[in-house]
Amino acid sequence: VLKSILPQYLKNKKVLITAGGTREYFDPIRYISNASSGQMGYALTKIAYAMGGDVTLISAPTNLKKPYGITVVDVISAEDMYREVIKRAEKADVIIMNAAVADFRPESFSREKLKKSKEKSVVHLKPNPDILKKLGEIKKKDQILIGFAAESTDVIENAKDKLIRKNLDYIIANELDVFSKKIHRGWIINRRGDITEIPEMDKESSAFLILEKIFKR
Ligand code: CTP
Ligand code: CA
Repeated sequence: VLKSILPQYLKNKKVLITAGGTREYFDPIRYISNASSGQMGYALTKIAYAMGGDVTLISAPTNLKKPYGITVVDVISAEDMYREVIKRAEKADVIIMNAAVADFRPESFSREKLKKSKEKSVVHLKPNPDILKKLGEIKKKDQILIGFAAESTDVIENAKDKLIRKNLDYIIANELDVFSKKIHRGWIINRRGDITEIPEMDKESSAFLILEKIFKR
């Protein structure tokens, strides 16, 4: 229904979107993760499809329903996501990296469920690959690379720094309220440093605003 109403800004574009929070397991049922709901990534997926895009969603675990008309690839860990994203990156016209990728993973995995018997237990961590940074390194000419940054301090400074460091075309800076654990507003920042505020609104409306700002010509 939406598709017949929205402007077709993404017609003939291959769009790759990631969403959700990755899980880093250290035994069969226990993992390290984060509180990302995946809602923003799913909203972007739905709106990008409605704007005419040929959309693939690489999704870490969420409680959300699969969007209509989309190829969905389910992944669990950051390493899985890295593999599935890099494999498809070359063919993509647009890549939107919305997933909350765990920065670290446990150094080892136990096939058996761990026992509490040890008085103290320590999980050692090692860094995960930075998927977006890699995408910035292998970026093709004319490919549009979009990242997200949820920050609780110096929101715009930190986001701008990531835009440059990861060689992005746009970054969506989100102000994370550590008390409500919610994002109330955000900003779209481009390479020239132009900033557009996204006021607080529902996720689908923000997704529309972001994609319209970037792809309307
Ligand atoms: N990202 C990624 N791979 C990672 C970590 C982050 O692709 N291993 C992507 C996220 O999907 C997001 C962007 O990089 O689009 C910024 O993520 P963020 O966590 O804000 O930045 P980091 O570089 O991890 O820095 P920090 O967590 O220290 O702020
Ligand atoms: Ca991070």
